[in-house]
Amino acid sequence: MFLPVIMAGGSGTRLWPVSREHYPKQFCSLVGDGTMLQQTVGRLSGLDRQEPLLICNEEHRFLAAEQLRLAGIENSPLILEPVGRNTAPAIALAAIEATRDGSDPLLLVMPADHLIQDIAAFHAGLAKAEALAGEGRLVTFGIVPKTPETGFGYIRRGAPLGSEGFSVAGFEEKPDLATAKAYLATGDCYWNSGMFMFRASAYLDEMRKHAPAILQACEQAMAHPQTDSQFIRPDRAAFEACPSDSIDYAVMEKTERAAVVPLDAGWNDIGSWSAIWDAMDKDADGNALSGDVLQVGSKNSIVAAEKRLVALVGVEDLVVIETADAVLVARRDAVQQVKQIVEKLKTLG
Ligand code: GDD
Ligand code: MG
Repeated sequence: MFLPVIMAGGSGTRLWPVSREHYPKQFCSLVGDGTMLQQTVGRLSGLDRQEPLLICNEEHRFLAAEQLRLAGIENSPLILEPVGRNTAPAIALAAIEATRDGSDPLLLVMPADHLIQDIAAFHAGLAKAEALAGEGRLVTFGIVPKTPETGFGYIRRGAPLGSEGFSVAGFEEKPDLATAKAYLATGDCYWNSGMFMFRASAYLDEMRKHAPAILQACEQAMAHPQTDSQFIRPDRAAFEACPSDSIDYAVMEKTERAAVVPLDAGWNDIGSWSAIWDAMDKDADGNALSGDVLQVGSKNSIVAAEKRLVALVGVEDLVVIETADAVLVARRDAVQQVKQIVEKLKTLG
């Protein structure tokens, strides 16, 4: 039995123009059936678990509540962050809420914007993680790396922990390219999937040890939260004063209680248009096309047409994303820079 904690506070700027400030990617349908959030909830069905606890920005409360309702979850609680302070505080708020009644559940922390294609393999991984988290470990799920990607955390496995997983010999969040290559060459490394399982108290204990200022601010913010119907609002001033950091830097790089469960479940973090191209079905020329699209002599491109017919002729490795009010054209190997367009748009107001 565990409590799913769904993190839905990201902004998804690299997936502009589909993902927008008021409608970020976790609430969008990008790959597969339903929105990313609905797919996240869907992959929990059939498991022995509590109703999920969702944590997102105040601004997105109705979007989140409505999508949960459509996924069959009526009145589960939503913690609303007045501002984003990254994942270490977000998870701390959830852990504090989860232990308010004196219980100490296992938390399964899940980002709301990942794709997992093999649900049976995912469920098998969860069972292993439950065993290790039940012994007080902070469990991550490790993905066998394919490339020296620098946008992920790297986990070097240590000694086996029964048949469930391994202790962690090293955790490095977002290494530089040389370090990522070195990690890859060792053959005993994984990417951190960004999903975690631990007892609420184990996380709070490690926060107390490694990130006391964050924990203190979160405890203050949750001392007397405002609640109305399913919404839980931490105190704004206390949470605004909280330092911003990710769970990876604040806790996982530092804790001695980390464990890793290898996961081979068709995981993809859907962070950029090239990740979506990776995850989509392609035609014989390697094109991933959705909507009203025609192509002649084009290869290895991704095209999504929302409102108009889009035609490609004789191009390769392109990204073309057409929406009602904006069109993105990019090289497939340059898609990380799409977020710079969003920054420029912000300066234009
Ligand atoms: N509620 C809430 N509040 N959620 C947040 C916040 C926040 O302030 N910030 C981020 N999130 C959510 C995002 O929506 C996303 O689902 C998840 O937390 C992870 O945040 P990202 O910003 O996407 O992290 P990342 O991609 O840079 O790195 C993490 O994920 C990688 C795998 O995708 C790390 O865990 C890496 O180690 C990991 O490899
Ligand atoms: Mg991410």
